[in-house]
Amino acid sequence: MPYAAFRSIGAYVPQKILTNEDLSKMVDTSDEWITKRTGIKERHIAAEDEFTSDLGVKAAQKAIERSGIALEDIDMVVCATISPDYFCMPSTATIISTKLGIKNVTAFDISAACTGFVYALAIAKAFIESGMKKNVLIVGAEKLSAITDYTDRGTCILFGDGAGAAIISATQDKEEAIIDVHTGADGEYADLLMTPNGGSGSVHDSLDTEARSCFMQMKGNETFKVAVRTLTKDVKDILQHNNIKSEDIKHFVPHQANYRIIKAVGDALKMTPEQVVLTVHKYGNTSGASIPMAINDLYESGELEAGEMMLLDAFGGGLTWGSALVPFAPLK
Ligand code: UT7
Repeated sequence: MPYAAFRSIGAYVPQKILTNEDLSKMVDTSDEWITKRTGIKERHIAAEDEFTSDLGVKAAQKAIERSGIALEDIDMVVCATISPDYFCMPSTATIISTKLGIKNVTAFDISAACTGFVYALAIAKAFIESGMKKNVLIVGAEKLSAITDYTDRGTCILFGDGAGAAIISATQDKEEAIIDVHTGADGEYADLLMTPNGGSGSVHDSLDTEARSCFMQMKGNETFKVAVRTLTKDVKDILQHNNIKSEDIKHFVPHQANYRIIKAVGDALKMTPEQVVLTVHKYGNTSGASIPMAINDLYESGELEAGEMMLLDAFGGGLTWGSALVPFAPLK
């Protein structure tokens, strides 16, 4: 049976920066409040003519180049996004494949909100281990500014745009194998984080007058509490299930939603500050893109070493959650 190896990482952030100072001119908030409650200082915003697929393509180009795998050998593209180029079709993954010049490919999007990258990783692992695919490009790409209500201070201070991508490949070497991926969901909490309008459940005549209900809405404080509880349990479970201790993890890469959530989960797991990867201050919450963007930061700063064990951990709308134990396994 082939194993699945995490070969490479890439990311892209758009140029424009939206600071807390800028936001304090748009809604009733302050740099002090945002910094204290979330740890966020700034986030990047895509240009009007820059689509989610464009962000994904730029991240993917880096991941492909760094993987050493030829474009024509990529046989599947999965894009995790809640801000696709087009609402229903075509999928952003098909657009990314075409813009990259990948032919004869299986391509589709998945909707698991901020847990999207971990879900995409699980899908790539399963396709590779079953022998159906050999080289899978997984992309987390978000233009969240397109679905953010910039009159709602409870959400607009949190979100940013960006993309991250990874190549997952078949290997016969067990040492390189992604060890485990956990995914979970509970629709009982669906109303905590949602875009209520625009889908088949909405009255389409109301779209013009209620355009804002196509934007993200969140019960932030309730989400916060469920996030800390769920993430801590999920990470403890995956470590225990695989007989791995916190200290065996070189880098803990949590979804970057809020510094206080990351700190609470990191503390509960007795992680040191050196283990916990933090990018929320400079990118905000980029949903499905946040984990690969954080891994890319590690890579570009020279801190991600071949063979090291990463622990990924995410939580988001759905509600969904997931975690993964992933050795970094570039081609030798
Ligand atoms: O990525 C997917 C999962 N998402 C998350 O995990 C996000 C989870 N939630 C959060 O990160 C936090 O709940 C928020 C950052 C969204 C909010 O922080 P909080 O500490 O939970 O604040 P709160 O909602 O309990 O509000 C406290 C106060 C309220 O005022 P009163 O009622 O105490 O007078 C809010 O109206 O802070 C007020 N407030 C703000 N004040 C200044 C809420 N947003 C803002 C703001 N600026 N932007």
